[in-house]
Amino acid sequence: MQSLKGRDLLTLGELAPEELAAVLDRAEAQKRARLNARHAPQPTGKSAALIFMKPSMRTRVSFELACVDLGIHPVVLGPGDAFSRNETIHDTVKVLERYVDLIVIRTFAQADVEEVARHSSVPVINALTDDYHPCQVLADLLTIREHKGELPGLTLAYVGDGNNMANTLMLGGALAGMHVVIAAPAGFEPRPEAVSDAVELAARFGTGASVRVVRSAEEAVSGADVVVTDTWASMGQEAEHDARVAAFAGYSVTPRLMALAKPDAVFMHCLPAHRGEEVVDEVIDGPQSIVFDEAENRLHAQRAWISLVL
Ligand code: CP
Ligand code: NVA
Repeated sequence: MQSLKGRDLLTLGELAPEELAAVLDRAEAQKRARLNARHAPQPTGKSAALIFMKPSMRTRVSFELACVDLGIHPVVLGPGDAFSRNETIHDTVKVLERYVDLIVIRTFAQADVEEVARHSSVPVINALTDDYHPCQVLADLLTIREHKGELPGLTLAYVGDGNNMANTLMLGGALAGMHVVIAAPAGFEPRPEAVSDAVELAARFGTGASVRVVRSAEEAVSGADVVVTDTWASMGQEAEHDARVAAFAGYSVTPRLMALAKPDAVFMHCLPAHRGEEVVDEVIDGPQSIVFDEAENRLHAQRAWISLVL
């Protein structure tokens, strides 16, 4: 395996299956060690810029704490700070890399994160764009592995909007040898490029994974080991909320839908959830829900990634 030192995390599709497994192994080991003994962090003299051009709760808290835990000083920048006053991506990156050892960025366009990475001499982490959310999927795969033991051969059904989560789950599932089925209404399918990239990854590495995009939520969930959903209106789509709620009728994860999955299936959601829309209380609060393990694992997965790249 190639060392992950200095590597960027932009979509998740840039990893090889053994690299993904190494991140999950590291996360699991560090999580166990942290539960057994909490040590005062040893300062490393390193620092990280965490840029949030969109709101965040989990990602901000988990990245700040992961950095502190590793003895890395985090500096959080909001929309009033980074790229303000018409400063270009190029100039912003050229300044930040003089200060910090790592750039974490959440923004709108995937192309902007890729431009940051092109200009940056320090590793870059995509903390969510309109198209991909790799940090969340690292945490999701860690959580599924904890609950199911192994990832290869599991069926993951994603129900709802073919958004950044759907796109990234296909890439992660392809690397992990899982069968990913996305159920989305017409016009809300995942990115064709993410579908073809996932298919290509599965073939290139011979992981045995498959990817399918279907219309019917029932068809997707039937026999699934993992049922996943996400908001119907992502950040930046707030004005479309009501139209989207109408378009996604029938894609809510209810007890009736969950009953079609395997009896021991788990329910996941990256959060924040919109109860009564993409999922109902009985499911997200029910015994199959592992959403808070999933949220906790953001910290462990990101700390593992940072410790491997720095
Ligand atoms: N799941 C997730 O990324 O949450 P935040 O938007 O709160 O960071
Ligand atoms: N799809 C959601 C994920 C939030 C963590 C969004 O982009 O808003």
